[in-house]
Amino acid sequence: VSLYRGNCRPLRFEPPMLDFHEQPVGMPKMEKVYLHNPSSEETITLVSISATTSHFHASFFQNRKILPGGNTSFDVVFLARVVGNVENTLFINTSNHGVFTYQVFGIGVPNPYRLRPFIGARVPVNSSFSPIINIHNPHSEPLQVVEMYSSGGDLHLELPTGQQGGTRKLWEIPPYETKGVMRASFSSREADNHTAFIRIKTNASDNTEFIILPVEVEVTTAPGIYSSTEMLDFGTLRTQDLPKILNLHLLNSGTKDVPITSVRPTPQNEAITVHFKPVTLKASESKYTKVASISFDASKAKKASQSSGKITVKAKEKSYSKLEIPYQAEVLDGYLGFDHAATLFHIRDSAADSVERLIYLTNTFSFAVLIHDVVLPEEAKPMFKVQNFSKPVLIPPNDSRYIFTLHFMPSTSSVHIDNNILLITNASKFHLPVRAYTGFLDYFVLPPKTEERFIDFGILSATEATSILFAVINSNPIELAIKSWHIIGDGLAIELLTTEKGNRTTIIANHHELQNASASDQSS
Ligand SMILES: *[C@@H]1O[C@H](CO)[C@@H](O)[C@H](O)[C@H]1NC(C)=O
Ligand SMILES: *[C@@H]1O[C@H](CO)[C@@H](O)[C@H](O)[C@H]1NC(C)=O
Ligand SMILES: *[C@@H]1O[C@H](CO)[C@@H](O)[C@H](O)[C@H]1NC(C)=O
Ligand SMILES: *[C@@H]1O[C@H](CO)[C@@H](O)[C@H](O)[C@H]1NC(C)=O
Ligand SMILES: *[C@@H]1O[C@H](CO)[C@@H](O)[C@H](O)[C@H]1NC(C)=O
Repeated sequence: VSLYRGNCRPLRFEPPMLDFHEQPVGMPKMEKVYLHNPSSEETITLVSISATTSHFHASFFQNRKILPGGNTSFDVVFLARVVGNVENTLFINTSNHGVFTYQVFGIGVPNPYRLRPFIGARVPVNSSFSPIINIHNPHSEPLQVVEMYSSGGDLHLELPTGQQGGTRKLWEIPPYETKGVMRASFSSREADNHTAFIRIKTNASDNTEFIILPVEVEVTTAPGIYSSTEMLDFGTLRTQDLPKILNLHLLNSGTKDVPITSVRPTPQNEAITVHFKPVTLKASESKYTKVASISFDASKAKKASQSSGKITVKAKEKSYSKLEIPYQAEVLDGYLGFDHAATLFHIRDSAADSVERLIYLTNTFSFAVLIHDVVLPEEAKPMFKVQNFSKPVLIPPNDSRYIFTLHFMPSTSSVHIDNNILLITNASKFHLPVRAYTGFLDYFVLPPKTEERFIDFGILSATEATSILFAVINSNPIELAIKSWHIIGDGLAIELLTTEKGNRTTIIANHHELQNASASDQSS
């Protein structure tokens, strides 16, 4: 094969090479390439075009023959499957001018809908691989999934709950929320490496074309341990979120029962906790069994390297290859800071004057946080109002912004409010505590007395002494100091026994110990 270089090239490419720059994973981009034949006498006949990675796809030529001075074209599609740089060489073969090469480049960036290709799944023949397709809406208006197709064959799409019809509502995703819209189900009787595609169309203006998710499944007859999922995807987590838990389901396709001896992250990862008890997987099962639950605690993910790795499963069967399932999480490090005193209100028993507080939030995340909505809980509505919120408010990283004014009108019902205002943002939902307190203390008389509100000694003989235990409770969200106590009347004394953290239930549970306690020497 002769390769033409430099000036000798009898074929000119327009553009000379193709750079797709950044494209989100799963969102195809197409470009046209022209081939010019600069020769004045020779006709060039094109035979084939091929790419060696699955990130690029080339169409066939518009015309196979390029007359002297003429041109033809072909299309190249870049469909990034992974985040990062990809490059490839296309080989263009001609009937009698040898092989030409053409360079293409691209950079895969994360998919804005948090979609990923399903690559690397391995399943035994006749068993299925059925991941849920979760779509995140990164926009400030509802996102409507308009169409979803599979490329057919062994890949089917099902509604996640198995329900029929009525996808319109199910496929509408509220702003900044994530929803499971479809289940892909792949199952084959043929041992082979299968490739299929899922095509998704939404009404968002940034994907007027399609989102295309490759599904690659290796179907095999090899006996072994298989996982129901090709990737444990913990999604996007903030450092203050509760740990996210995913279950690991396994299946044994061999003819012998196999004990599973360990399930561990490799390398070691503080953020990962595996709950696993040794279990034996029965031979030739057709259903997956839950073997372990794996939790990811974003507050313990201090380094970027902790956000991905593998879970290694060891089985007591030498002939099986070891099973490794990759995991990933996106950790958002930061919080929305605010002045805690600003959302704390004292309900005084006389003054019914309203109070207004300006609420500012500080964004410590490395990206801009957009406050899309502010939702007041029902319980707080009688006393609170959110005013002057002009949505949305954008808070740049490491900056503060005024968000809204919290208007407080104390009501005469004098009940405590301890609830949260919900902030709907592009970094999920946040709780902003809102509390109103009376500053009053409450009390009750401890068992065995049955009358809780009265300190009633009943009838005593002249020389008799008796005591009654009672508890004083501070259910305000602030500390209260009891400076002193006084008694009006003779023959009565009060002794302080103890002060402790707790509530009504813990006090009643401990009242036997209190009965035997001696007086504390504290006088305030
Ligand atoms: C390709 O050739 C046609 C005529 O054969 C010409 O009209 C057209 O402008 C050429 N296109 C390019 C991109 O050179
Ligand atoms: C290019 O095409 C010719 C003619 O069809 C063929 O003989 C040759 O093997 C091909 N070369 C490559 C590298 O595909
Ligand atoms: C898969 O299923 C088909 C039809 O149900 C059956 O004929 C075949 O033996 C099965 N293959 C295996 C490996 O279980
Ligand atoms: C997409 O559809 C939803 C639901 O019908 C609608 O609220 C939203 O405005 C639409 N978005 C666009 C960009 O048209
Ligand atoms: C499928 O691909 C894997 C890994 O790329 C390879 O080891 C295996 O032999 C392939 N199987 C078939 C049937 O081609």
